[in-house]
Amino acid sequence: MEVVRDRSALRIARADLPGPVGFVPTLGAIHAGHESLLRRARDENASVVASLFVNPLQFRPGEDFERYPRDEPGDLERFAAAGADVVFAPDVSAVYPSGFTTSVDVGPLGAVLEGSVRPGHFRGVATVVTILFGLVRPDRAYFGQKDGQQAIIVERLVRDLALFVEVVVCPTVREPDGLALSSRNVHLTPEERRAAPVLVRALSRVDEAYRSGERDAERLRQLIREEIASEPLASLEYASVADRETLQELQVVDRGALVSLAVRFPSTRLIDCLPLA
Ligand code: PAJ
Repeated sequence: MEVVRDRSALRIARADLPGPVGFVPTLGAIHAGHESLLRRARDENASVVASLFVNPLQFRPGEDFERYPRDEPGDLERFAAAGADVVFAPDVSAVYPSGFTTSVDVGPLGAVLEGSVRPGHFRGVATVVTILFGLVRPDRAYFGQKDGQQAIIVERLVRDLALFVEVVVCPTVREPDGLALSSRNVHLTPEERRAAPVLVRALSRVDEAYRSGERDAERLRQLIREEIASEPLASLEYASVADRETLQELQVVDRGALVSLAVRFPSTRLIDCLPLA
């Protein structure tokens, strides 16, 4: 496995790779969720490129950029074990050259849900993903359903800007008690960790109600509110049942939908989501 640190080294390494090329972008702190993306990329492509870059553009002042978990040696071992051929692990100046001024605005899709709590977040994600796609020129890129809004935005970005990358969205990997794996789970205190499956319980209630025929989106959102209210350590930031294409809130679930929620615990915030047919 080759580790490259700047744009030109990546271009050179990329030129030697047999296609098709699968790409897995990450912020590092690699866990079994990331590994499932890497394995899928390994299965479906002749070559696999991964990136390890805590992108400052997608964190707002006061968010957790500084304390985002970092373990480059451990991450590189995990990338190698999962079969990556090339890992791009740049520092900030290697991604954003001095005088950098261009950004990718994803419009209304980036203003709702996570974007309403984290303004500018998806502009940062879309900008770095566009740069990474330009450097890696992957045939396929792998994203997790865990970050459902992000996956929808990347699909939109690829279509709108004609980037010609197949976006593959992979299922959320969970702990045995249902908690979605996330690099931020390490911040949870033992008590918060015990409380954290309340997110997946809320989604399960929505899933069950939907399967029993409930199509009133407000009633489904209400199930999430009730479930989160039952956990004293958890406070709900948003509960959403939205159109899968536009991410606008639905009144009636009569088309593909994304159910999503964000919950704040004293030490960190967690998100989870569930696609409905
Ligand atoms: P990061 O949070 O490191 O996630 C990298 C990829 O792993 C994302 O596509 C994410 O959805 C996926 N992932 C995370 N947890 C998962 C889980 N439990 N199951 C399945 N997939 C999971 O998302 C980012 O980084 C960044 O925004 C990035 C796309 C790299 C741009 O900077």
